[in-house]
Amino acid sequence: MKSILKTLETRFDRALNAAFGAELVISVPVVGVASNPKFGDYQSNVSLALAKPLGQSPRGIADQILQHLEVDDLCEPPTIAGPGFINLTLKPTFLAEQLQQMQADPRLGIEPIADPQRVIVDFSSPNIAKEMHVGHLRSTIIGDCIARILEFQGNDVLRLNHVGDWGTQFGMLITYLSEVHPAALTTSDALDLGDLVAFYKKAKQRFDEDEDFQVQSRNAVVKLQQGDSEATQAWQLLCDQSRREFEKIYRDLDIELTERGESFYNPFLADVLTDLDKAGLLETDQGAQCVFLEGFTNKQGDPQPLIVQKSDGGFNYATTDLAALRHRITAESAQRLIYITDAGQANHFAQVFQVARRAQWMPETIQVVHMPFGLVQGEDGKKLKTRSGKTIRLRDLLDEAVTRAQTDIETRLAEEDRTESPDFIANAAQVIGLGAVKYADLSQNRTSNYVFSYDKMLALQGNTAPYMLYAYVRVQGISRKGKIDFSQLDDVSLIIAEPSELALAKHLLQMQDILSEVAADLLPNRLCQYLFELSQKFNQFYDQCPVLNAEEPARTSRLVLSDLTARTLKLGLSLLGIEVLERM
Ligand code: ARG
Repeated sequence: MKSILKTLETRFDRALNAAFGAELVISVPVVGVASNPKFGDYQSNVSLALAKPLGQSPRGIADQILQHLEVDDLCEPPTIAGPGFINLTLKPTFLAEQLQQMQADPRLGIEPIADPQRVIVDFSSPNIAKEMHVGHLRSTIIGDCIARILEFQGNDVLRLNHVGDWGTQFGMLITYLSEVHPAALTTSDALDLGDLVAFYKKAKQRFDEDEDFQVQSRNAVVKLQQGDSEATQAWQLLCDQSRREFEKIYRDLDIELTERGESFYNPFLADVLTDLDKAGLLETDQGAQCVFLEGFTNKQGDPQPLIVQKSDGGFNYATTDLAALRHRITAESAQRLIYITDAGQANHFAQVFQVARRAQWMPETIQVVHMPFGLVQGEDGKKLKTRSGKTIRLRDLLDEAVTRAQTDIETRLAEEDRTESPDFIANAAQVIGLGAVKYADLSQNRTSNYVFSYDKMLALQGNTAPYMLYAYVRVQGISRKGKIDFSQLDDVSLIIAEPSELALAKHLLQMQDILSEVAADLLPNRLCQYLFELSQKFNQFYDQCPVLNAEEPARTSRLVLSDLTARTLKLGLSLLGIEVLERM
């Protein structure tokens, strides 16, 4: 199905062409969703923008557009309002026809896009031997959602986990490992190191206290870089241990990722330097190899260097990202690259992108974006911490969300005098708890900081996952109560007449525009807002229009509207990475 907005855009373009010629340059959207239902469903302000270039009155321009605008297959006769706005209202018969097509299609009428791309989404990307923290949780949730939407549109998406699995810290970890588990360096048996974060801390302590240990650690790094088998073995062991922990979280959150850590790009690092040199960008500064950046200055106002090889010969985070960028563009043929990290890394990415562009590794046709997000704060507005002031472990945070969801469900069941099996309760708690955490994150404009509150995210009212899940459950309740199999309701004619039916119908038909918008602007909160409004509009409809008790043909028509709402909610939530429940 073609999006209504796109159809109207085409019609306006044609009318503008016919009225003013093809040379006319228009730099504003020709039509958009009306800001207020008072002005109809869609509105065009283009006459106002054209008044100056055409030297005519906006109303006069609007008149001329209307003489050429052909929309009577979908709209009531357009009207001109105020200084020259064109207001459009969709015809109920057109809405009914569209909804019928939507009903017949498993994709709800949303066709794959015409020009799919090869897209790489770089997200989650925790660091080995370090705790996955809430920042990684945000990256994981947002990245997964973006990947899901792009995949649904038909793009070829590669989800990459750029794990921090390389660097000088491994010298220290390997040396410590050889002290406490000497056998680990020679056997390939799995070894449970227990809490790797505690292990890291102890290794660091040894490193800080003992000079011999420091020397050994530096040697270990060199050995690792040379591919020494014992050092590699130890490194592998540390990575495996971390990986097992990360995977548990990904499994719970239903996240798919291809691990391609920093170590993967090792073989390409030397080439980065060679080619930067060839491009004439490489300079030596205090023994380090660097590229001086445009537009970045230090405190003294001098151009700031991006170091690509330290004076000790080591490569760094930026070198690896330059190698990764090249690999993704050449070997992976990416046409669009999206990096999802906290806003604190904005400069890092701006610098890496600048160097890659100046080295001509990044053709203009390739879109490379850093998608930053804000901090997760506690209810006190400060960085999220446990009561005792420690960093919150991701595992504990997710477990607590599920436990709290379970308490809420048990309380509600008791109030409603219902009994459910322990399995039912456990499953519902899992879906609601994890869904609530994801939704709370995605429903915020990602660029701002957000306050993490279990009470708010688990509330049944407001822009929350439970509210949306409940709207879905309500529809399933209608089907159970009326013994209706929604899948049997095909090919029915709809009657869209009541104001709440009209509002719901129009909203249902906007889903594909919302997805295009999110895919372009990378703002998942737009989809959350859409789903929230959809649930509200459904609840209004359900309050105002009897469904099971209505007379035919309204009854079947309303059943279809209810089913379409549920299917749209289910699709939308699945794109956010959230499951639905049939009952709750
Ligand atoms: N490991 C990094 C961190 O924890 C994130 C990596 C993001 N991706 C990248 N290509 N730099 O901060």
